[in-house]
Amino acid sequence: KDLALREKNIVLIGFMGVGKTTIGKEVAKRLYRDFLDIDEVIEKEYGMPTRQIFENFGEKEFRQKEKDTIVDLCHNQRLKVISVGGGAFLQEEIKEACLSKCIVFFLDLSWDAWQDRISSIIDSRPVLQGKNREDMRHLFDQRQPIYKDHHYKVTTDNLNVNEVADFIVDRLK
Ligand code: S3P
Repeated sequence: KDLALREKNIVLIGFMGVGKTTIGKEVAKRLYRDFLDIDEVIEKEYGMPTRQIFENFGEKEFRQKEKDTIVDLCHNQRLKVISVGGGAFLQEEIKEACLSKCIVFFLDLSWDAWQDRISSIIDSRPVLQGKNREDMRHLFDQRQPIYKDHHYKVTTDNLNVNEVADFIVDRLK
């Protein structure tokens, strides 16, 4: 059965470092909902940061866990605000579950604006390790098509956290 719009989980997608977690927390607070960051859920389960999970168990295992966690949440939870990792939509099953069960917001950010954030995220992101700026640009471009399927897109370049949260909350009214 389809859930009413106002009961659906809100899912935030977009490239690493665009602010999915920060914005997700703000949206959850305003809607009195629980917030879940999928990377955090997985990190808690393994008792270590994602970088360590990649190093110790490999990306394949992380992706499997990511898929199981998100698909389960989509089918069995409601009224949550969920931020998923920047690579989650590489997996068709995740994309399909989110798009069919939840309201998906794509947080878009230009390459120029994203570059200013590199230093604050580089240490914690396994897929950025050993990459120079050109490699990162390549990954950034390569990832854009996976975010093409969504319900709403927010271009966040000139918006602060409150303005992005306003946009998202307004879409539920
Ligand atoms: C990844 C993004 C990360 C995390 C993992 C892999 C990716 O999430 O899931 O490091 O492949 O883009 P954030 O988008 O929250 O950084």
